Amino acid sequence: MLQPGLPPGRAENENGSSGGRNGPDTDSSWRGQAMKLMVSGKGGSGKSTVAALLAKQYVKDKKRVVVVDADVSTVLGPHRLLGTEIPDDLIGYFSGEKIVREKLKASRQADTPQDAPVFGTWTYDTVPAGYGSIKDGIQLVTIGKLRDATISCKSPWMGLARQFILGMHLAENERLIVDAEAGIEHFGRGIDSVCDVNLMVVDPTYESIRLAERASEMAGNVKIPLYFVLNKTNERTSKTLRHVITDKSRIIGEIPHDPVLLGAGLGGRALPDSCPPAAAILKILEERRGVPS
Ligand SMILES: Nc1ncnc2c1ncn2[C@@H]1O[C@H](COP(=O)(O)OP(=O)(O)O)[C@@H](O)[C@H]1O
Ligand SMILES: [Mg+2]
Repeated sequence: MLQPGLPPGRAENENGSSGGRNGPDTDSSWRGQAMKLMVSGKGGSGKSTVAALLAKQYVKDKKRVVVVDADVSTVLGPHRLLGTEIPDDLIGYFSGEKIVREKLKASRQADTPQDAPVFGTWTYDTVPAGYGSIKDGIQLVTIGKLRDATISCKSPWMGLARQFILGMHLAENERLIVDAEAGIEHFGRGIDSVCDVNLMVVDPTYESIRLAERASEMAGNVKIPLYFVLNKTNERTSKTLRHVITDKSRIIGEIPHDPVLLGAGLGGRALPDSCPPAAAILKILEERRGVPS
């Protein structure tokens, strides 16, 4: 289990957004600092939709947001929902998959510390031109897409995503949201190790419930808090999910099935401002991110 009183992902995660704290949580000075938030879940559960909703809510709260599309398996990213242009794949900036793979390998062979940003560091304003697409304070960065069906190893993309998130220095009024790859195989050693919070989207499907259970079981080995947001629910499915999810304290919010969200997804349109507010979810995340879950 996570150590009580020790903000997970803070004491050991020197990712630039964290305070690098040690010892019991005797003060709350880290609260309100920049946060890197990973949105995970099964494919189709609503990761991109929830990531976009949270990003838009942050903008309403006067924050600037970097959204990292790290879902390399889904060719279409969240740009439509956010209303941004499609940025160039970041992996291209680093000369492509082969070079990235070699650089990651060399770094491993040289025993470079896990938290060393070997690909460089960035701020919201210094993302390489063309590789960040900005609209209304939300900057979308796409790591890359597995467009070649014969490639099965995602590690260069995943490694680069981790490095980009690690190397992104956020100001206090900035947040980073990762629209993560579906599934949980990468938990514990990948992108979550450079984030502060893992928000898992759980839709009313058996697969999502199983994934949530599995993530709960693994949570003790992962440094950052794990929370669930229920998505696409109605009264009945909400009750069922809340009944069957064992780790109920992790449920911090719910986005009911919403025809406006469905319509935006279906029509490839940007989420309108009339979308369900994500304010309550963000409030809890901001308050609880350092509290062991
Ligand atoms: N709360 C919701 N209400 C209705 N439809 C939703 C909701 N959340 C997501 N959707 C729809 O579900 C589908 C999958 O959502 P998406 O965000 O693309 O999932 P993922 O990124 O996890 O694959 C889309 O058609 C989207 O519009
Ligand atoms: Mg998606």
